[in-house]
Amino acid sequence: MKKLITTVLLGCAMITAGAQSKDSKMDRFIDELMNKMTIEEKIGQLNLPGSGDIVTGQAKNSDIAGKIKRGQVGGLFNIKGVEKIKDVQRVAVEESRLGIPLIFGMDVIHGYETVFPIPLGLSCSWDMEAIEKSARIAATEASADGICWTFSPMVDISRDPRWGRVSEGNGEDPYLGGQIAKAMVRGYQGTGDKTFTTNNQIMSCVKHYALYGAGEAGRDYNTVDMSHQRMYSEYFYPYQAAVEAGVGSVMASFNEVDGVPATANRWLMTEVLRNQWGFNGFVVTDFTGIAEMVDHGIGDLQTVSARALNAGIDMDMVAEGFLTTIKKSFDEGKVTKAEIDLACRRILEAKYKLGLFSDPYKYCDVSRVKKEVYAPEHRQLARKIAAESFVLLKNDNNLLPLSKKGTIAVVGPLGNTKENMPGTWSVAADFNKATTVVDGLKSVVGNKANVVYAKGSNLTTDPVLEDRATMFDRSLKRDDRTEEELRNEALQIAKNADVIVATLGESSEYSGESSSRSEIGIPDVQQRLLMELLKTGKPVVLVLFTGRPLTLTWENENVPAILNVWFGGTEAAYAIGDVLFGDVNPSGKLTTTFPQNVGQIPLYYNHKNTGRPLAEGKWFEKFRSNYLDVSNDPVYPFGYGLSYSQFDYSDVTLSSTAIDSNGELTASITVTNKGKMDGKEVVQFYIRDIVGSVTRPVKELKGFEKIFLKAGEAKTVTFKITPELLKFYNYDLNYVFELGDFDVMIGGNSRDVKSAKFTLK
Ligand code: BGC
Repeated sequence: MKKLITTVLLGCAMITAGAQSKDSKMDRFIDELMNKMTIEEKIGQLNLPGSGDIVTGQAKNSDIAGKIKRGQVGGLFNIKGVEKIKDVQRVAVEESRLGIPLIFGMDVIHGYETVFPIPLGLSCSWDMEAIEKSARIAATEASADGICWTFSPMVDISRDPRWGRVSEGNGEDPYLGGQIAKAMVRGYQGTGDKTFTTNNQIMSCVKHYALYGAGEAGRDYNTVDMSHQRMYSEYFYPYQAAVEAGVGSVMASFNEVDGVPATANRWLMTEVLRNQWGFNGFVVTDFTGIAEMVDHGIGDLQTVSARALNAGIDMDMVAEGFLTTIKKSFDEGKVTKAEIDLACRRILEAKYKLGLFSDPYKYCDVSRVKKEVYAPEHRQLARKIAAESFVLLKNDNNLLPLSKKGTIAVVGPLGNTKENMPGTWSVAADFNKATTVVDGLKSVVGNKANVVYAKGSNLTTDPVLEDRATMFDRSLKRDDRTEEELRNEALQIAKNADVIVATLGESSEYSGESSSRSEIGIPDVQQRLLMELLKTGKPVVLVLFTGRPLTLTWENENVPAILNVWFGGTEAAYAIGDVLFGDVNPSGKLTTTFPQNVGQIPLYYNHKNTGRPLAEGKWFEKFRSNYLDVSNDPVYPFGYGLSYSQFDYSDVTLSSTAIDSNGELTASITVTNKGKMDGKEVVQFYIRDIVGSVTRPVKELKGFEKIFLKAGEAKTVTFKITPELLKFYNYDLNYVFELGDFDVMIGGNSRDVKSAKFTLK
């Protein structure tokens, strides 16, 4: 066994659960304010109701106004419109006893009115600068419209594509998820002493803490049960990374952890989050998270509210458990004044940091909306980023890019919809402003080619399922004709076209919250349409819309070209044209594994080896860890994605094959663009720790670089390896490195890599 070198981290840095400001001016201000507050007013700050019905100019008469005046509201969320927000803020500032301003939150998840790709798509760009910029623009637009707090980033690791909310996260890898978390927080808030200095920086809220993506069977809100080893090694890092980046707030998840709902889990909310990671912002529950603990079965509303406060929750979203029961619990000695004060202080600190005490209307400059929301330069960037999020899954005989000529038949239920373009969780989007694929392609080809359209099929055969998958005004306007009638119309236009662009897959609400699926293929009726389109003998390009990995076994075998466009946001249609016609060379790489079938789930690249791994090159051996009826391989592995260029990887060169615990080495590889087009490639760097005191994954992403190579150009990419990079959580959850041998693997995806070995002595 290797010698244990370092033990660190856990249990050190006992920062008590208190607000830990280094800002004495802020402390004094809040001390003075809190001295004036009654216990009821303090509890009022912990209350975050939904916005209710507020009509512009009528805030005073709104259903929530009475509570605001009585000091029973700390913030509101999901109200859209700066005029309204300003009005409501005025009620708080002018008509409540102490005039404490409200904080206004919203789910600004992947853009505001300018919508970027769904987070899963955005993550496939592997472009941290672009991701940060997308968050910056989202913050700019949201703040111009009165919002100063966003419930983003969502960083839940998930290995279960049945779960609809994989669309909102960054895939399956903790390291990549952590980098993205940091980029988003920087984009929303700014960094260091440049945080919240301008009125276009807003507070970020990392969610859903913790482990929400690991619900059993991919069913939303379901039970989570995993070892602490796995939590620390595979699921926690993205949340921790957001904390390291200075995230101002954290949202508790709905699920239970170790048998206690996260919302009442003191170990999670105080021991890990604050004592171990040093978080000093505030924690808000998820929507009705407190009241749901009654159904979890851990007590009545008063009990669960007290447990949440004891655990370290500061703000109660919607449930009003704090508002209606904490005073009683205080009187009965079930919660302390110190606990109430602490939560209240954390909320007031957030408002102070945002600058709301100096100017409650900091985010209410009504002149900004016109200039800053849905601004042309934002849209331009969104188009560029959307194209970077697309993943080219297949391209036989270089069918793509298409020429801008002849007749292009767009066929499929996703080809002519605006409402389904922005994707799930785009609450501020104005659907009328989105562009359909048909119009996007027309705009890109201009008068050089003829674009025609037929729906070809409904989303699904089952109208009830279609209803559920097109909620929130995302209707696909179900066509009452028979399957055959719809298909025949499509075949008719396909017959006369030069190429068929099949726009198939999921509608935007087929994934997202409470949209788990037990089958994750392209819906039956669309698949039948695709088969018929292929039978025409015309070239078929599948433009795949999806919010999750789908089982594309049949499509991968039968369709010559597949471009996965996720849901690319308001500008997606143009970006689809840019990529299909070769104005942009695709460069997205999957951040989540695409399984062959549902039975293989969970399937992820950084798995353990087991004691009975399959021999290389085999897909079945008796008494090995495998299935009788399907190989262990995915259809598309993590990190996979094609380009119109071909990238050739040299062997890996190490600067040395051994280092000691103070040393470092480099691993280099030369990548050559062998294609005819300039292009970008995401060079991925993995490590395997061959022997550990606990079992180690077969590979783990440790770095990546997205490079641009002109046609014919070669570049050498170098990754630095230090013992720090080799650390992991051992059995006692100490974060350590251990001496021994390591594999270095570098390549364009997690499967096809070049490798070398070194030793840490
Ligand atoms: C979701 C959160 C969201 C909240 C507020 C909940 O249902 O789980 O992600 O931020 O609603 O809209």
